[in-house]
Amino acid sequence: MNSPVMQGLNLNTPTYVKNPKLIAWVAEMAALCKPANVYWCDGSEEEYDRLCQQLVDSGTFKKLNPAKRPGSFLACSDPSDVARVEDRTYICSEKKENAGPTNNWMAPADMRKTLNPLFDGCMQGRTMYVVPFSMGPLGSHIAHVGIELTDSAYVAVNQKLMTRMGKAVFDVIGTDGEFVPCLHTVGAPLVNGAKDTTSWPCNPTVKYIVHYPETREIWSYGSGYGGNALLGKKCLALRIASSMGREQGWLAEHMLILGVTNPQGKKYHVAAAFPSACGKTNFSMLVPPEGFNGWKVTTIGDDIAWIKPQANGKMMAINPEAGYFGVAPGTNHHTNPNCMASLDKNVIFTNVALTDDGDVWWEGIEKDTGKLPDHLIDWQGKDWTPQIAKDTGAKAAHPNARFTVAATNNPALDPAWDDAAGVSIDAFIFGGRRSTTVPLVTEARNWTEGVYMAATMGSETTAAAFGAQGVVRRDPFAMLPFCGYNMSDYFQHWLDVGAKIQAGGHKLPSIYCVNWFRKDEAGKFVWPGYGDNMRVLKWMIDRLEGQAQGQESMFGVTPTYGELNWTGLNFTADQFKTVTSIDKAAWQQELQLHTTHFEQLAYNMPKALLDTKAALEQRLAAI
Ligand code: OXD
Ligand code: MN
Repeated sequence: MNSPVMQGLNLNTPTYVKNPKLIAWVAEMAALCKPANVYWCDGSEEEYDRLCQQLVDSGTFKKLNPAKRPGSFLACSDPSDVARVEDRTYICSEKKENAGPTNNWMAPADMRKTLNPLFDGCMQGRTMYVVPFSMGPLGSHIAHVGIELTDSAYVAVNQKLMTRMGKAVFDVIGTDGEFVPCLHTVGAPLVNGAKDTTSWPCNPTVKYIVHYPETREIWSYGSGYGGNALLGKKCLALRIASSMGREQGWLAEHMLILGVTNPQGKKYHVAAAFPSACGKTNFSMLVPPEGFNGWKVTTIGDDIAWIKPQANGKMMAINPEAGYFGVAPGTNHHTNPNCMASLDKNVIFTNVALTDDGDVWWEGIEKDTGKLPDHLIDWQGKDWTPQIAKDTGAKAAHPNARFTVAATNNPALDPAWDDAAGVSIDAFIFGGRRSTTVPLVTEARNWTEGVYMAATMGSETTAAAFGAQGVVRRDPFAMLPFCGYNMSDYFQHWLDVGAKIQAGGHKLPSIYCVNWFRKDEAGKFVWPGYGDNMRVLKWMIDRLEGQAQGQESMFGVTPTYGELNWTGLNFTADQFKTVTSIDKAAWQQELQLHTTHFEQLAYNMPKALLDTKAALEQRLAAI
């Protein structure tokens, strides 16, 4: 029995845990954080139910009406703790230039000096949960294991839905297998027997989300919310994994993965990167519209892809996650019917509103019912009525309110979603949110041009999120907040991965740039989006099958109006022009913005991308 006793604290190490490095790390962290006790999660249903009940008893969870939303709970967070904190997120590589200009950086030794006093005693009066999880199918050659130590039962139950969590992970790491140590605290110690005075303990003023890429460690302090606290997701599966991927020749990407099967039963796999809040979950669960009989879209993942090139040139991809932590507002039966069906039961909701009959509500759902509810309790526990909303603009659900749900709830789940071998990627899609300039869809003429498209993608900011409205925030590969190393080195890594596959004599996946968000002169979206994105997806498949010729534009290859299937949609050639035209003056300005963007990333910027820009400038000058 491995059960060392630290300063009177029994570590309760189960006998099936046989990894001395893990046991020593837990002992060291327990000695630092000084929890009241240590609990090793086994990942069982019984444990999940027990911890959920404990969260109900402590007031963090409200059990929803089982007749309306069986097995589901609502948690409402502290108003200071509602989203990822990018300005408090650090990549602590030994050298500053390895974190690059897009990441916050501090030298590891300095960061450790800052964090050690904060973590000293940070779990007093609380339980330290040891949460073993696998990112990716257990034992898959593409998967990696993490162990999260957390003083939040909310985190433990969310991790059960979001990852393959449980004691089988200890078998995977055995006596000497590798794991990424992830330490998390809400940063609210209960000193001298103090009791919680809030149902969402966190540290309202001090937050740190810290990554040490060289030693592959994650330390998170002060927040209990989403990507700040569920450390398998953005911290491990993107920031740490992207850095591992660079060293080991693979890719960790902010991408959904979907399967698309044509009426003849031929299946393709597509991985698509969009910045946060640009509809990745919707696209990954797309329901083909009328006129696409026999076409099927199935979900492998909605947020993250790990892609490992194989000796045969195939880029095999897995979704490292096992659940969805999606944005609720805006989700309804029109925007995402499969997601709505996924949310019927066994869901943890965070920061949505509560209806008078014990169900949940968020802005956008009224499009399904045709009317607003008369009364709700909003995410901050206050009364909400349509009149209050009209008078004060109060939102019933926080705009970043979330659902956590197991992937197995998704009726469109791909049968291969849990396949340890992964699926072979045929095409990559990169999309930003641009009201002008970037056309509906363009295929890159080659890998380098595709990398250029991804490196320069951007989204227009909304006033609420990032300051001035309408300014383009460059979000290369949708990885700006998630790349664990220097962005220009990341571009080079993509070029290198492509070059290696090509050098082996293999065909690379095609790369497409899309923009669902072009607006007309009246400021209205022109492209209907959602299920109608299938029309664009089908054109991509037609291109892969050599059945659509497309036409050359200065930016790449685009469809002609006649190449898209318009059955069931009244979309005129003029409207098509509005979403596909290239405006020379706008593009001249755009390329100047690319220059500024590349200047900011000048250190190690690949020459191939500068050459691609020069070639685009020449093509543009010629039109
Ligand atoms: C997410 C994000 O939560 O990208 O997936 O912010
Ligand atoms: Mn995301």
